[in-house]
Amino acid sequence: MLRDELIAARERYLSPSLGTTSLYAGNPLILSHGQGQYVFDESGKRFLDCTGQNMCVSLGFAHPVTMAMVSEQMHRLQHATTLFYNEQSVCYARELVAHLPVREDGEDWVVQLSNSGAEAIDLAYMMARAHTGHYEMVALRNAYHGLQFGAAGSTSFNTNRFASPGMQGFVHAMHPDQYKGSFGAVLEPYLLELKRLIAASTSGRIAGMIIEPIQGSGGVVPMPPGYMEGAFRIIRDAGGVCISDEVQTGFGRLGSAYWGFVDHGVLPDIIVLGKGMGNGFPIAGVVCRRSVAESFARMKFFNTYAGNPVACAAARSVLKVIDDEGLQTHARLCGERLLAGLMRLKARHELIGDVRGKGLILGIELVRDRVTREPAVEEGTRVQARLREAGFILVRGSPTRNTFRINPPLCISFDDADALLDAFDQALAAG
Ligand SMILES: Cc1ncc(COP(=O)(O)O)c(C=O)c1O
Repeated sequence: MLRDELIAARERYLSPSLGTTSLYAGNPLILSHGQGQYVFDESGKRFLDCTGQNMCVSLGFAHPVTMAMVSEQMHRLQHATTLFYNEQSVCYARELVAHLPVREDGEDWVVQLSNSGAEAIDLAYMMARAHTGHYEMVALRNAYHGLQFGAAGSTSFNTNRFASPGMQGFVHAMHPDQYKGSFGAVLEPYLLELKRLIAASTSGRIAGMIIEPIQGSGGVVPMPPGYMEGAFRIIRDAGGVCISDEVQTGFGRLGSAYWGFVDHGVLPDIIVLGKGMGNGFPIAGVVCRRSVAESFARMKFFNTYAGNPVACAAARSVLKVIDDEGLQTHARLCGERLLAGLMRLKARHELIGDVRGKGLILGIELVRDRVTREPAVEEGTRVQARLREAGFILVRGSPTRNTFRINPPLCISFDDADALLDAFDQALAAG
């Protein structure tokens, strides 16, 4: 299809509601193919994909191991529903559990798969409610957990809310944003506020709390050291279970650890997975304590595609390649190089208010004024367009759309990292 024809057909046949999600409004980028960390448009122009397609393409495009494992499974059996046993989902669950810390409370981890992150989030909430017998859940402000049903109830952006009642049963605690949070760069006031929220806005006995170790879509806001530990204690005292949303922070992307919660020295009761899990194949899921899953086992819970063997083959390739190619260590080294370079850029460009994150989850917040921290949104749009010209695709997160996010496939090279820093430098210098 020619470019104009494709754009017109998309407007004609795909829902207008998708318009709000497209990048580069008015001048869309059409992706033709991908290789490694790069994508190519219809004219053959190459881009470093600093989005990793919303972090889903973790190993890289057309990775030979994913292609071989997927293709072999595709030829063997393309689908088996959960009514039947199949080797792929069983092997995947075993291999996944081997990548989790051993529990010292005598419980083991079990896996339940789904097709998308939001489905897995809803599953986690249902499990928390079934296990505790409580209903109310706590999420953080500025959190993104998906847009279906309960997931949407816990997501905390007004851009994703209708002016009508959403899913009931969620209260939102102040997120401990160390750059522009309501209480500043501290820890205890946020924990105290969480306690007060439970006392004032819930029955006092809650089903649980969900936390992203780094709020990704909220603009790369890392939980400060001690927050998850303190919050987990408060939640367990109120009878709830603790859920770590590892949809973005899982699978080695942080470099320092395979899972985000590990860096915080806590052990969740439920872990939610998605995105990078399948190197682009739709697969997500929940890993939880066996007793949590047992409470839920009274109810028949089923969905048609969960545990699809081709998606499981892709997910097995992710675990294998991260280990075989040392991608977690590579994410750490690349992240350190990028972070150091971004700090140098911050010293040179007033527009950069803050640089934060870890591994290959990095954020660059643009502000008009370093004291008021007024979001530099139009400036960001110009920088984004210049980066595109230079061959780098980046999205901006946070409700105010002023934080660039760097989340490329884990196979990004040091040369790519240096080239991205140069491109940023030039795009910022151009004003
Ligand atoms: C942290 C987090 N949790 C959950 C989700 C929902 O995942 P999905 O879009 O696959 O439903 C997302 C999606 O962006 C996410 O970033």
